[in-house]
Amino acid sequence: MTTHNSESIKQPALDFPVHPLIASRWSPRAYDSKSVESEKLQRIFEAARWAASSSNIQPWYFLVGFKGDDVYRKIFETLVEFNRQWVVNAPVLVLAIAKTTNNRGDLNKSNAYDLGQAVATLSLQAMSEGIYTHQMGGFNAPAAELAFNIPEEYKVLVVFTLGYLGDAEILNPNLHELELSPRTRRPASESVFTGSFGHSADFL
Ligand SMILES: Cc1cc2nc3c(=O)[nH]c(=O)nc-3n(C[C@H](O)[C@H](O)[C@H](O)COP(=O)(O)O)c2cc1C
Repeated sequence: MTTHNSESIKQPALDFPVHPLIASRWSPRAYDSKSVESEKLQRIFEAARWAASSSNIQPWYFLVGFKGDDVYRKIFETLVEFNRQWVVNAPVLVLAIAKTTNNRGDLNKSNAYDLGQAVATLSLQAMSEGIYTHQMGGFNAPAAELAFNIPEEYKVLVVFTLGYLGDAEILNPNLHELELSPRTRRPASESVFTGSFGHSADFL
């Protein structure tokens, strides 16, 4: 298997050990031109299927484009310029769509939360297959909804890539630093509380 500089740089400095899949997931911008095998796509979207959701509504829907096809081109056209400069290398581009209503036609308040869980779940399955994902909010959602005749109660919340990791060198030089800098996070003690909000959990 090919290894890239970025793979080791992106291994996080963990405060506590976690599953290797969680540690190794990150969001690359450099992709190999190799396409993603259908069997892998089957398993990646199967993983999304088994995410938890409020009342088991499963509000997630995905529209998958492959480099060279019309769906890919139309998704690509909705991206902001910053994303276009690197997404161009990705073999697969996906619209992640949430159905915002429940079966009675009322607002499903969990729609975004549940779609996020499905994407998080599929991103870990993808990682286990050697496939990287990169989610993007930098796109024109109304334009995407129009381009694909998406009904009003469905909203495109995110676009994401799927693909094998490529060499950072293929990117515009302005993106090299992002691709080759370590991943950072605030400590868990600043997000996990006991007793009252803002009071770090003792176990951390
Ligand atoms: C909802 C969402 C929107 C994002 N939008 C963009 C984007 O438009 N362009 C981009 O390059 N990265 C985007 N990202 C990627 C984040 O910047 C990235 O996940 C974050 O910096 C953490 O890095 P990691 O995923 O490599 O751990 C987005 C991520 C999420 C979850």
